[in-house]
Amino acid sequence: MQAISELIKQLPKAELHLHIEGSLEPEMMFDLAQRNGLELAYKSVNEIKNAYQFTQLQDFLDIYYAGMSVLITEQDFFDLTWAYLNKCHEQNVQHVEIMFDPQGHTERGIAFKTAITGINRALQQAKTKWNISSKLIMCFLRHLSQQDAFKTLEQAKAHLDLIDAVGLDSSELGHPPSKFQAVFAEAKSLGLKLVAHAGEEGPPDYVEQALDLLKVDRIDHGNRAMESKTLIARLKSEQIALTLCPLSNLKLCVVDDLSNHPLPQMLENDLLVTINSDDPSYFGGYIIENFLAIQQSLDLTKSQIVELVKNGFKGSFLTEKEIEQFIKQVDTCANSLI
Ligand code: HPA
Ligand code: ZN
Repeated sequence: MQAISELIKQLPKAELHLHIEGSLEPEMMFDLAQRNGLELAYKSVNEIKNAYQFTQLQDFLDIYYAGMSVLITEQDFFDLTWAYLNKCHEQNVQHVEIMFDPQGHTERGIAFKTAITGINRALQQAKTKWNISSKLIMCFLRHLSQQDAFKTLEQAKAHLDLIDAVGLDSSELGHPPSKFQAVFAEAKSLGLKLVAHAGEEGPPDYVEQALDLLKVDRIDHGNRAMESKTLIARLKSEQIALTLCPLSNLKLCVVDDLSNHPLPQMLENDLLVTINSDDPSYFGGYIIENFLAIQQSLDLTKSQIVELVKNGFKGSFLTEKEIEQFIKQVDTCANSLI
């Protein structure tokens, strides 16, 4: 009989909500700034870390976009992604579905190809070296126009073999999913899967729009869906995965305390909820730290942890057969530990 923290560490896990630019650790930010001859607004790693005080999503986004400006070359994108995948290996994450924000780079004059080639090279190397499987999600920045999103989708067409899905992130309030209906329809027609951030700060109606207008396959966050009984019933009956990010919710004041997180009500309602890290370097932890924090705050049981870990695979874009194989591995590991 192992401690619950051991179970969290040892179970094979999937991560479905991870912005690769949000895994840029302050140390690497400094190294890359130096390598590329750039001056940062901060003088030390500690100064950077002290700046990570947020009261809402936008506070974080301003710092997040400034931080990613050190990413210039293909090697920078490789190094960033490789560092995250090393963490995955350390934490026994065996499948990742990572997001990237091409517009955060093309707007600064960095080619789409530079970003995607570096990220993909690291993903392929992790498959070869550690058998970590992956999917890549290209996000549209919702504070920009749909026309901009269409331009990005055009650029993506030369690299569709490397892209599995499109997503929608950045400033949620005032930028409803309806703004991107046409570009999501085109992405779907190209055979891409669809996800969108909804209900992080935005109202339940944004979650409904993501489902009805964008036709997403899963919802990133979705916390505020719990304000609507009809939405809860729908998420349950359609088993739409929600990619929750506990430490992100705490840091961005989406919840005032993890003990008030909606996860227990979501589990009671049989929703397909998963645990993820979102932007680990900004929010204070990778997937294990997120599991540990939410387990301790809500006193989750071992069987709830196993259910959440299995949901990570069930909510993924893996094939049914691959999901079945991963679930078997989770069961074998859980049975050996419980
Ligand atoms: N929410 C919205 N946009 C984002 C986030 C987030 O948590 N992280 C990176 N872009
Ligand atoms: Zn996110």
